[in-house]
Amino acid sequence: MCGIMANIGSENAAREVLAGLKKLEYRGYDSAGVAVFNNALNVFKVKGKVADLEDHVKNQPMAGLVALGHTRWATHGVPAENNAHPHMSENGRLAMVHNGIIENYQSLKNFLIEKGYSFKSDTDSEVLVQYIAWYQDHYQLELTEAVRRSLGDVEGSFAFVILDSTAPNTMVAAKNDNPLVVGISGSGFYLASDVFPLTESCDKVIYLEDQEIITVHLEGDYEVIDFENASITPEVHTLERKDTVYSKEGFDSFMLKEIYEQPEIIARTLKSYVDTNLAEIKIEAIDLHRRIFKQAKRIVIVGCGTSWHAGLIAEYLIESMAGIHVEVEYASEFRYRDPLISTSDIVIGISQSGETADTLAAIKLANERGAFTYGIINTPGSTIARHTDAVSYIKAGVEIGVASTKAFTGQVSLLTLIALKLATITGKLHPLQCKKSIDEFLEVPKMMQEALLTDQLLGDLSQNWVNKESALFLGRGLNFPVALEGALKLKEISYIHAEGYPAAEMKHGPIALVDSEMPVFILATNKSALLKLTSNIQEIKSRKGEVIIIRNAGMEIDAALADYQIEIPAVSEFLTPLTTVVPLQLISYYIAKGRGCNIDQPRNLAKSVTVE
Ligand code: M6R
Repeated sequence: MCGIMANIGSENAAREVLAGLKKLEYRGYDSAGVAVFNNALNVFKVKGKVADLEDHVKNQPMAGLVALGHTRWATHGVPAENNAHPHMSENGRLAMVHNGIIENYQSLKNFLIEKGYSFKSDTDSEVLVQYIAWYQDHYQLELTEAVRRSLGDVEGSFAFVILDSTAPNTMVAAKNDNPLVVGISGSGFYLASDVFPLTESCDKVIYLEDQEIITVHLEGDYEVIDFENASITPEVHTLERKDTVYSKEGFDSFMLKEIYEQPEIIARTLKSYVDTNLAEIKIEAIDLHRRIFKQAKRIVIVGCGTSWHAGLIAEYLIESMAGIHVEVEYASEFRYRDPLISTSDIVIGISQSGETADTLAAIKLANERGAFTYGIINTPGSTIARHTDAVSYIKAGVEIGVASTKAFTGQVSLLTLIALKLATITGKLHPLQCKKSIDEFLEVPKMMQEALLTDQLLGDLSQNWVNKESALFLGRGLNFPVALEGALKLKEISYIHAEGYPAAEMKHGPIALVDSEMPVFILATNKSALLKLTSNIQEIKSRKGEVIIIRNAGMEIDAALADYQIEIPAVSEFLTPLTTVVPLQLISYYIAKGRGCNIDQPRNLAKSVTVE
């Protein structure tokens, strides 16, 4: 993963780099570093966050027109100062920041060791910079050509920026399978892992393509070549300028703020995709390719983590509403298992960031095999969005908390609209029924708002679970993926072991875990599953599990069955994931808070997983 940020041309390039790194911290935050050229190359690194790096450099001479920096998520080598980027070549000439994995780093390293090179870090990135330095020395090459020729021997994924201290008016960057964006401003160039840090200063951007190398000069010109040395004229995109000052707006974490934003996001989604006058769902990506969607034999949905959970909900909805066969796969499995894909398949990639390496690879594979690819993405201009045949954006806005909340409900709401839309296309849903469903959907923002009123109750109740070691989340039907999502939220921010299960699967193993120490969260908001679910609850109760039931208002559940019942407003069954997930998000938040965890930046995680 990792965030790369570099600048050439600004009066205080290091300041620009540090500001940009803060916006890229969602990509990794275990160590950070910056190099600035002012007569000589000065490199500063810390184990910790960008704020720690800022502290570290505050009394250092940081002025200079050229700087490059990095915020890291460890792949090779533990989080430590020596493994932080920028990495230098042994001769002190080159400094590099890298995102990705050099797969053949060991053989390159062995080669360099034989040549007498030594290494200060355990990283594959240091091997890469040293290898480029070897090419440069051995063949007496200027930097761009040394980069180009050495990459012929390199296997893996990378995006990197490199600076030669003997030619500090120039920076070189290359990309293969990891994102790199070049921002063009009046004062020079910004090179970054994505557009977030560029929107305040740049009017134009170039999205470097795989196997391309860009050389940018202090004088304001640039050249792009591919790995075969052919000259490329890149497409220059206009960037909408915006000040992106992210604020918690009085909440104590971005996650809590984002939980509270959800009603507004659902309302925005409905406004964007529903014509309430005509009672029609207008999704341009589908309207433009109506024939493809009408004739589709199968939809395959790929995604990771929370996005995969949203995909599972879509599977239930699309199959039952539209009658189209749907399969949902982890992108990481799909991309490597030689899946059967035909030209009559639609492959949907769901991704908040639009940068997840496995989802991108799955989409590329589907493209190669002739499927129609469709992205459900939150981040405009992201790599996955640019690699799909059609894209629809969820309306969640930038999500900062590593634990996805508003992006999940944004995805589920758009996917629910897609299911309804497809049902009208396949003729399974009469326009009048569609209108009724839309009317019910329009009530959801209000119902979510009411679900948020459980906040204080859940804050108090959650104190009971702060010191638990494990928790179970159970649901049936549409609530099974919501149970998975509840468990994922709890484990990622509180580090408590949690599992989500289809309630009926309990008997097939997990019930062995249940004792009086085990909180079991039962999602009972879908009426159709209630009777069956009640038997599952009895089974847990008889094993002394602590039962917490989340149910709709008006649903009668025997008080003796539950230790606690949490009531949320009733919505139509197809909309229940949107309300049911709210108390689960709050419970995770309060448990993590009670344990003193870093809620927005949990340990070992990064917001965007751009390595496999
Ligand atoms: O950006 P994406 O939606 O592709 O990310 C997928 C997962 O990495 C992401 O959902 C992850 O599981 C979150 N941390 C969950 O809260």
